[in-house]
Amino acid sequence: MGVIVQEHTGLFHLQSSGMSYMIQIVDGYPLHVYWGGRLKHRESLADLLIHTPANAGLDRLPQEYPQYGSGDFRNPAYQSELEDGTRVTELKYEGYRIIKGKPALSGLPSVYTEDDAEAETLELELKDAYSGLQVVLSYTIYADRNVIARSARLNNAGEHNLRLRRALSASVDFLGKDDLEIMYLSGAWAREANIIRKPIHQGETRIDSKRGMSSHQFNPFTALVTPETTEDHGDAYGFSLVYSGSFEAGAEVDSFGSTRVSIGLNSFDFAWQLSPGESFQTPEAVMVYSGQGLGDMSRTYHRLYRTRLCRGKYRDEERPILVNNWEATYFDFNADKLVSIAEEGVKLGIELFVLDDGWFGKRDSDNSSLGDWYEDRRKLPDGLADVARRVNEQGLKFGLWFEPEMISPDSELYRRHPDWCLHVPGRRRSEARWQLVLDYTRQEVRDYIYDSLSAIFTSVPVAYVKWDMNRALTEIGSVALPPERQAETAHRYVLGLYELLDRITTAFPDILFESCSSGGGRFDPGMLHYMPQTWTSDNTDAVERLKIQYGTSLVYPVSAIGAHVSAVPNHQVGRITPLEFRGDVAMSGNFGYELDLTKFTEEEKETVKRQVSAYKEIRGLVQKGDLYRLKSPFEGNESAWMIVSENQEEAIAYYFQVMAVPNAPKRSLRLAGLNPELEYEVQSGHSGETSIHGGDRLMQLGLPLAYEQKDYESGWFRLRAVTH
Ligand code: DGJ
Repeated sequence: MGVIVQEHTGLFHLQSSGMSYMIQIVDGYPLHVYWGGRLKHRESLADLLIHTPANAGLDRLPQEYPQYGSGDFRNPAYQSELEDGTRVTELKYEGYRIIKGKPALSGLPSVYTEDDAEAETLELELKDAYSGLQVVLSYTIYADRNVIARSARLNNAGEHNLRLRRALSASVDFLGKDDLEIMYLSGAWAREANIIRKPIHQGETRIDSKRGMSSHQFNPFTALVTPETTEDHGDAYGFSLVYSGSFEAGAEVDSFGSTRVSIGLNSFDFAWQLSPGESFQTPEAVMVYSGQGLGDMSRTYHRLYRTRLCRGKYRDEERPILVNNWEATYFDFNADKLVSIAEEGVKLGIELFVLDDGWFGKRDSDNSSLGDWYEDRRKLPDGLADVARRVNEQGLKFGLWFEPEMISPDSELYRRHPDWCLHVPGRRRSEARWQLVLDYTRQEVRDYIYDSLSAIFTSVPVAYVKWDMNRALTEIGSVALPPERQAETAHRYVLGLYELLDRITTAFPDILFESCSSGGGRFDPGMLHYMPQTWTSDNTDAVERLKIQYGTSLVYPVSAIGAHVSAVPNHQVGRITPLEFRGDVAMSGNFGYELDLTKFTEEEKETVKRQVSAYKEIRGLVQKGDLYRLKSPFEGNESAWMIVSENQEEAIAYYFQVMAVPNAPKRSLRLAGLNPELEYEVQSGHSGETSIHGGDRLMQLGLPLAYEQKDYESGWFRLRAVTH
């Protein structure tokens, strides 16, 4: 296992416990020969190629990092412009290197190893002799995961300037496959993570973000599947980009029946100056193969992202149950109101109080004060530290909201530094939510934000931070960059953000950070590297959340999915759902409340107490178990999923039916992921009733479900293996 090299045939075989990926050097070109289920090692697979560069030209060849200009007319992985204005380069193989473990990517988030024995990294060195452009392709193969992490480093080893016009992270050619389907997650604000699946034919299917953020519209993820692939069966090839800015991903079916998938930084509006001696590192693409369907592909991502992408103390710690005041008060609060919510929270067992937007500057609505990170004494006359102290005295930890990448034109900061936002001199500065975006390419801007936040973290007992980002980037330009580097601004912004996140999370390791971007506008692996959880959507309606959380789980682990119970009628859709239903949906994520607890009736408070104490018992499993999706909310009235512990001795299954069904047929829920040899005690989370069933029966015949004649029915079941 690991990287097996057959030097005399030029074959590189990356082999994990369940997967093989093979590259063969033919006539100096690194060609892609295989990706799929594990193969025994062979000396060569060149016979699979049929065509060679000599007999067919490049257009028919499956390539590892395709170029443009010498006969391959499909989408290239990179393009570089020389000083003479020409754009043709030709990469040829120069050599390789194998590294134990996985090197970090300079300035960028990435998956990692904790022990060198977990993975091996192959670096292939390619060079364009004419320009001196050198490209190092990096492939990390994990021993026990069906994962390859890919990226490219482009070095200018020549004597003249180069200008990169495109630099993708990965490109994979599926030779002779033109009958595949593409999947991705699309959406909008409050409608994130819709699962799209459709056949692809000759031509291109492309998703992207030009917003400077990964976006609500498309998640930086795509997958290819066969038409037969289901949750439990068939091939699935996932491509997930560890990046939080503008990206592109897509599949191109060519005229010879092959499909090329590529993913990376958006080439639109991108260019990068590379002087002699300089390097450019692309973000990382994490590629997952499963021969056992989408569920297995997702679980591979979940385990990797939960344990080898997220970092810090909270990666492994159980996450606190929180109450957030946003939908409870919006901007209208004072210290006593906040403390009263915390006071009620502690009686119900809640552990963390989060003070959301509106505590700083003079922020009575969303039209001012971003950048002025000091408390508003009109609302908090005794200061932030006093509110935090009072919350702590109740027995709750204190958390705080920031939107550190933004600046309001109506702010002290803007009056002092009107040039600190991204803008193009002489042009209109497009506001969104009455705010502009700080120019994070600039060190002094990042330093100001670092100093402002750390001043608070060192004077107020902040245990949690919600790092929000509520608008896309426009007029993407920086007055700090020369004309020839303006097209670097969007990527430099993200690099600046990562530098700051790294600095701040390293300096304050005890703070739990949650990222947010008007909900799921930046729910991506890049942010998860610094912050182990994300606010999934501003849409808190439980019915809507079924789809949003289900879709998000295609790539992201439950431990990353923030899910809160909010008030009814719901603030986004006006729907009234029972508290139990709202609780069950939220309890299958990272749990909390987002409402005014003081307004609950005694009966509702009892329900909340039960939910909170139940979640405390199950959260270890919810946050760290393996997710099995059972029924898709995209396909009907019912949704179900379950989470199983690694040793299969514990599980929790959730079931939801949105609308009542007249004269309903008898129902049962087929479970998954259990040990067929074990007997399980199944306990209903609502009634507490128990029964005992074999794992085989639960998976083959299912768990019988009682039926209540009502809309918004839900239930959850706790399963524990019975020991004799
Ligand atoms: C958008 C977030 O998604 C909300 O939860 C809330 O924090 C608001 N911003 C505050 O402005």
